[in-house]
Amino acid sequence: MTEQPIGVMDSGLGGLSVWQALIQCLPEENFIYLGDSGFCPYGSKSAAEILPRVTHIVDFLEEKGCKAIVVACNAITAASIDFLRQHYPIPFIGMEPAIKPASVHTRTRAVGVLATERTLQGRLFATTRSKYAQGIRVVAIAGNGLVEQVEVLDFDGDATMDLLRRYLRPMLTENIDHLVLGCTHYPFLAASIRRIVGDGVCIVNPAPAVARHTLSVLEQMQIRHPPNGSVGRSIFYTTGDTEKMKHMLSFIQAADREVTPVRL
Ligand code: DGL
Repeated sequence: MTEQPIGVMDSGLGGLSVWQALIQCLPEENFIYLGDSGFCPYGSKSAAEILPRVTHIVDFLEEKGCKAIVVACNAITAASIDFLRQHYPIPFIGMEPAIKPASVHTRTRAVGVLATERTLQGRLFATTRSKYAQGIRVVAIAGNGLVEQVEVLDFDGDATMDLLRRYLRPMLTENIDHLVLGCTHYPFLAASIRRIVGDGVCIVNPAPAVARHTLSVLEQMQIRHPPNGSVGRSIFYTTGDTEKMKHMLSFIQAADREVTPVRL
């Protein structure tokens, strides 16, 4: 059981930011990544549209023998994590908007959240906000169009920078000192975001916390690969353009990986 891979799923390339954190935290584990770039973006779609896609992806990962699945997508987590936990026997680790750490550390009492529509409309966002951000001004803005820019690997072109300025300026006007990245595609825009917000704003990427949580779930369930100095293997699948995923992998210094196309 411990040798079995961990599935990592996303609407596209964004979940690779979570995979990076996972291999740091759990280097000995094997991973199977599936990005549904052929149907991306999810963030503007309804839960009813997302759910059948998610079911296909999870069935695929289960057939590959995954012992656990990291839902490396805030929109999928918002739309379907309860459903997945009810219908499949393996553990699911979801994304959570990192409002808690941002609210604990803010000095200006104002935090920004950049996420997709689907995530901002979800119950998880509402409950996390009311639980951890009492008395804090939460400036939540939907980053419409940003996922598409990341999918075409445009991290800092004019169109991307224009969108980022449009979404981030109102947050700066509200004097935020923390910016929560509520979409796993957005860490690839971190350098561009930094250029706009300057050094005074802490950019919070929840991926390392999700990786630590994955570790604790595996330990709790006694399915963690023993950390014995070995290095696990990662396999990548996409429903979209394999070349784009390869480019993204080379951007994150994982250039030598094979990407296999899949139809779901
Ligand atoms: N990476 C996904 C997320 O974290 C993007 C959703 C989308 O495809 O719009 O929400």
